[in-house]
Amino acid sequence: MTERKMDIWKYFDVTHRHHVVCNPLSVDKLDALLALCALPAGARVVDIACGKGEVLVRLAERYEIAGTGVDISPYAVADAERLRDARVPGADLRFVCQAGADWAAASHAPFDLALCMGAEWVFGGLAPTCRRLAELVRPGGLVVVGTPYWLRTPPEAYLEAEGLVAEDFAPSLRASVATCEAEGLQLLYAAVSAPDDWDRYEGLQWYAAEAHARAHPDDPDGPEILRRVARAREIYLRWGRDHCNWALYLFRR
Ligand SMILES: C[S@@+](CC[C@H](N)C(=O)[O-])C[C@H]1O[C@@H](n2cnc3c(N)ncnc32)[C@H](O)[C@@H]1O
Repeated sequence: MTERKMDIWKYFDVTHRHHVVCNPLSVDKLDALLALCALPAGARVVDIACGKGEVLVRLAERYEIAGTGVDISPYAVADAERLRDARVPGADLRFVCQAGADWAAASHAPFDLALCMGAEWVFGGLAPTCRRLAELVRPGGLVVVGTPYWLRTPPEAYLEAEGLVAEDFAPSLRASVATCEAEGLQLLYAAVSAPDDWDRYEGLQWYAAEAHARAHPDDPDGPEILRRVARAREIYLRWGRDHCNWALYLFRR
């Protein structure tokens, strides 16, 4: 008998159903950073791993932009298209369902703003992400990167449970900035998650999984979703909350 394998994008779709943005930052902090972008009319923007499109839609509500969102999840892209049609129906926003690195490899530069929030693995880590985003924007253009960093040295058991090595994330906020600046980016602003931002990001996943299980008792993936979320919750409560944080950075190339 072949073992049933859950669609991982379905898992993220279910567990992020109640998130406005799929990262551990409050929308107020996000809005403050987007306001600082001060984009001119007609600015070209790309958001790699755009998730449900909230950031591009917020940018289109604030500025007259031509935006492209790229995400590998068909669920996320469908949500992003629905969000665009509901909130900014006339805006020049399109969403592409593709691996971010493949999309970026077919040069679409230059952009005025390139973003990658909470998905630095798309380009193989923080430094290559900064390099690739910097290549996508014109000289003087803007780059926004969101990425975790360690608050303190992570214990081996935590790393093992997460399938990480310590080098996967920078050892401090300052080290994250230094990594990005080494790629030719000048720091303009940083929005840093607070514990309650993380708690909301994690807690909404527990909530969504339980709500899904109640609403869809016959979903064959239901037990697996609950199992995975329970494990992630245990890791977060035992280690993640005290060892890891997240920040969104605004840079100029
Ligand atoms: C933590 S979420 C962040 C979403 C969005 N940037 C936000 O902040 O709301 C990570 C996103 O990366 C997408 N993703 C994962 N691997 C990807 C890849 N190789 N190429 C493009 N998107 C990817 C997932 O589908 C998910 O939407």
